[in-house]
Amino acid sequence: MAFKILDHGRLERNVTLLAVSAFLAVTIGGIIEIAPLFWIDSTVEKVEGVRPYTPLELAGRNIYIREGCYSCHSQMVRPFRDEVERYGHYSLAAESMYDHPFQWGSKRTGPDLARVGGRYSDEWHVQHLKDPRAVVPESIMPGYAFLADRELAHVDMRQHLKALVRTGVPYGKEAVEAANDDLAVQASADGDAAALQERYPKAQARDFDGDPAKVTEMDALVAYLQMLGTLIDFKAAAPQEQPR
Ligand code: HEC
Repeated sequence: MAFKILDHGRLERNVTLLAVSAFLAVTIGGIIEIAPLFWIDSTVEKVEGVRPYTPLELAGRNIYIREGCYSCHSQMVRPFRDEVERYGHYSLAAESMYDHPFQWGSKRTGPDLARVGGRYSDEWHVQHLKDPRAVVPESIMPGYAFLADRELAHVDMRQHLKALVRTGVPYGKEAVEAANDDLAVQASADGDAAALQERYPKAQARDFDGDPAKVTEMDALVAYLQMLGTLIDFKAAAPQEQPR
C-alpha cells in the first residue's frame, strides 16, 4: 500500500511533514477546480433570447436600484416547486448575465419580480407605484408617486453603455451611438421603433406612464418592470407535456 511508505503515525506526529502534505493536497485540489476557468470563455451557458437592456430599461433599472426596491424584492426564482408554481420557470444564470450589479436579492418583503413583466398592465403598475394601497388594500409597500412627476434626467446614455461594454456587455458601436435616440423612441407613443427592435428584440415601445407629454422616471421604471422575465420563450423550450 502506498500509505505504508508514508505511514499515518509519522505523518501525524511530524508537523512539517503534515503541513507540506496538506499544502500539496490543497494545491492539487485547487488547481483542478480553478485552472479550467482560465480556458473557458464563460461559465454561463448562453440562452436564446437573452439580450442586453435597452437604454430606457437601463434607466429604469437605475431608478429601481436608487429607490432600493431590491431591499424588499428579489429577482431570482428558486428551483423549487412552490416557487415555480407561484412565479414561473426558475431563473437561469443567463438571465442576469448582463446585470451590473445583479438584483438577485435575498429578502422578500414583497414578491419576487424576476417574471413580473407582462403580468399587469402599465396602468396597474403606475397606479400601484403611485399608491400601492389603491390596488392592493393590504399592501405595506411605500408609494413612489413622485416618479410620475420627475422627468427622466438627461444623462448621456452612450457613456452608460460604453461603461457596460467595458464590463463585457456586448453593445455594438451602433447601439452605443444610438443610445440617446433609442431611449427617446422607446418611451414615445408614436416613434418608429423598428431600428430599436432590430437592436433589442422584444423591446416594448410605448408611452408607459400615461403621460405622453414627457418622459418621466415612471416611464423608465415601468418599461423595466414590463420586460423582466419576458426575453426567454420558456414555452418553446419546455418539454412537451404528456397527455393524461
Ligand atoms: C418596504 C418593502 C417594499 C419596497 C421598498 C418596495 N416594495 Fe414592491 N411590494 C412590497 C409588497 C409587500 C408587495 C406585495 C403587495 C402589493 O402588491 O403591493 C409589493 C408588490 C410589488 C409589485 C407587484 C408584484 C406582484 O407580482 O404582484 C411590484 C411590481 C413592486 N412591488 C415593485 C416595486 C418597485 C419597483 C419598488 C421600488 C420603486 C418596490 N416595489 C419597493 C414591498 C415593497
